[in-house]
Amino acid sequence: MGAPFASAVSSGTAGLHLALRAADVHGGDEVVTSPFSFVASANAALYERARPVFADIDRRTLNLDPQAAAAAVTERTRALLPVHIFGYPADMQAFERIAAERDLAIVEDACEALGARHADGPAVGARGHAAVFGFYANKQLTTGEGGMVTLGDEATKARIDSERNQGRAPDMDWLDHDRLGYNYRLSDIACAIGVAQLQRLDESLAARAQVAERYRQSLDGIEGLELPCADAGGDVRGWFVFVVQLPPGVDRDDTVRALAASGVQSKPYLPAIHLMSFYRERFGHREGEFPVCEDVAARSLALPFFPQLDEGQVARVCETLRATLGR
Ligand SMILES: Cc1ncc(COP(=O)(O)O)c(C=O)c1O
Repeated sequence: MGAPFASAVSSGTAGLHLALRAADVHGGDEVVTSPFSFVASANAALYERARPVFADIDRRTLNLDPQAAAAAVTERTRALLPVHIFGYPADMQAFERIAAERDLAIVEDACEALGARHADGPAVGARGHAAVFGFYANKQLTTGEGGMVTLGDEATKARIDSERNQGRAPDMDWLDHDRLGYNYRLSDIACAIGVAQLQRLDESLAARAQVAERYRQSLDGIEGLELPCADAGGDVRGWFVFVVQLPPGVDRDDTVRALAASGVQSKPYLPAIHLMSFYRERFGHREGEFPVCEDVAARSLALPFFPQLDEGQVARVCETLRATLGR
């Protein structure tokens, strides 16, 4: 990817936790992040007793909206945590400007974005901020469970390497520990699987992009159905899932049932984090706070998506969806 340093960890969640610790996020701090993400990106701040502060998302990319994020920054904000959701690059230039103006750290959640590239050149995860990738079974590259933090500087790597391994420094006597650490190591067996996966990564990413393109062509023209945004301005998505937004007013549960009855699996994906019961109860979040996120979360549906999905299977999914929506 071109990142000078990296640290393998036991999961994307573990990587986010260690990256926030390395950014000196402490109790009472705030971390501005996206409510349209997998819950782990917000939970990671809570592990350090910091508060995840949400801001609404951009309707096209579904990523954290930089303007909304800037408006959510307070004197307690310590870090920005943008998420490259569904593998589409977040607007890092904008977040870098906000971070420079307000003296904030940046931690990128790139768990879904292996293979993505920014319009201004670097691969997602190679801009010098800590960026966290996930290697769970559904990801572009998998080790079963696992993750990787890519980094721009050696001191941060040394800290993360130590904290993933119970707080040991590299030059220490056996079983001496000079800081608090965790067992967030990626196992050797998982690493071996990852190395083998890496050899197939380009092929697998290309196959995913081809499946996505077939979906795009076959679903074109269904009234009100929104497809994942096309690459624009030089940004390149690393294809992870194919999530459509159903036309407004369509009952999603009925759609899922009708697709299932025809043998097509689908899932609502993703729910808004701030409306999850734990977040409502802990922080008093309510409907209406982040209208774009809530609208997108209410209409999003993940369709079958994996590199081996062939042309006939894509056609069958699309015909079934078209017929279901046309009823
Ligand atoms: C956006 C996002 N963040 C964080 C994670 C957490 O990664 P993991 O499941 O490897 O802990 C995931 C994936 O599961 C994810 O999709």
